[in-house]
Amino acid sequence: KPLPASSLAARKEGYRYFMEKEIYEQPRVLADILTGRLGEQAVRLDELEADWLRPISSVTLCACGTSYHAALTGSYLLERLARVPARVEIASEFRYREPVLDPNGLFVVISQSGETADTLEAIKLAKAQGLATLALCNVDNSSIVREAERTLLLRAGIEKGVASTKAFSAQVLTLWLLALYWGQARAVLSGERHARELTALRAVLNVMQVQPRVHERLHRLSKRYLHGHGFFFIGRDLFYPLALEGALKLKEISYLHAEGDPAGEMKHDPIALADAELFTIALMARSTFYEKVKSNVEELSARDATLIAITTEDFELADDIIQIRPYDHPMLEFFEMLVVVQLLAMEIAIRLGNDVDMPRNLAKSVTVE
Ligand code: AGP
Repeated sequence: KPLPASSLAARKEGYRYFMEKEIYEQPRVLADILTGRLGEQAVRLDELEADWLRPISSVTLCACGTSYHAALTGSYLLERLARVPARVEIASEFRYREPVLDPNGLFVVISQSGETADTLEAIKLAKAQGLATLALCNVDNSSIVREAERTLLLRAGIEKGVASTKAFSAQVLTLWLLALYWGQARAVLSGERHARELTALRAVLNVMQVQPRVHERLHRLSKRYLHGHGFFFIGRDLFYPLALEGALKLKEISYLHAEGDPAGEMKHDPIALADAELFTIALMARSTFYEKVKSNVEELSARDATLIAITTEDFELADDIIQIRPYDHPMLEFFEMLVVVQLLAMEIAIRLGNDVDMPRNLAKSVTVE
């Protein structure tokens, strides 16, 4: 029986949509994830043991949609912090392409719902080939959790908005912890690097706190971007999966065309679309190849693309700048930009009159392939 409107409104706790509430909840979710896991000297993950991870020679991460973007982000973190070869798979493709897997590898599936049909079949396939399996999942006792040998629950709480927000940040933070824990187990990080990661982890909660100034700015800006023939989200390195996620979020709730591209791929095709009606959201992280992204963006600007730069810098070619705070760690820039792309998508979709919690044609959990 549907809940009466007044009771639904109460559950949104004053926010216009569950999606908005869930974006604002992210610092609390991240705090829950770190509880009991972030020691003075090391990360602890009681669900795993160093001895279980040590013999593993590679990792495959597999998921769908937004969870796939978390997987891609995780592959950068795992290679960097744990120095294990990492590959990433879209579950619906993986299942049918007769994959050759490393028998000593770990197969990690990532799913908010734990019920996504393709991801569930993918873990069954990996298990049948004898791989160790780990699920990162938000729903305890879900089909994927039941299938997995080990589980890291996401601790994000119930996510009601079809557009995943807090579950994504939970997935990324959990992957960051996993990468660091694994790096500790393999003793591959220098003391200095390890300490730098722990310091950044301690700072992450504040970074995800929505700043009223930024939300207000995005609300105002959104009215300029309701037309046009599309959005490009571009970034490099960790900011490439974030570009994909920004595009997915905008597309699924605004119904506007959006794509995410690696900034360095511009010349190989997407630049053909550039003109004033193409809105480019450039993720220009100070920490990560800033000059390279800048030169990619300059090329788009020379073709008259309309530029929205998310950055700490002053970038004179941008039509609009969304200023973020400066950090000396890429993951902190990542989480701060994540809030920006989530809010931007939401504000555009709300202006277009869409129900952002229940976008057309989409379901919260996709239990058929
Ligand atoms: C995210 O905003 C989408 N609703 C969708 O891409 C989702 O991430 C995908 O269906 C995977 O779902 P899961 O995490 O529950 O497996």
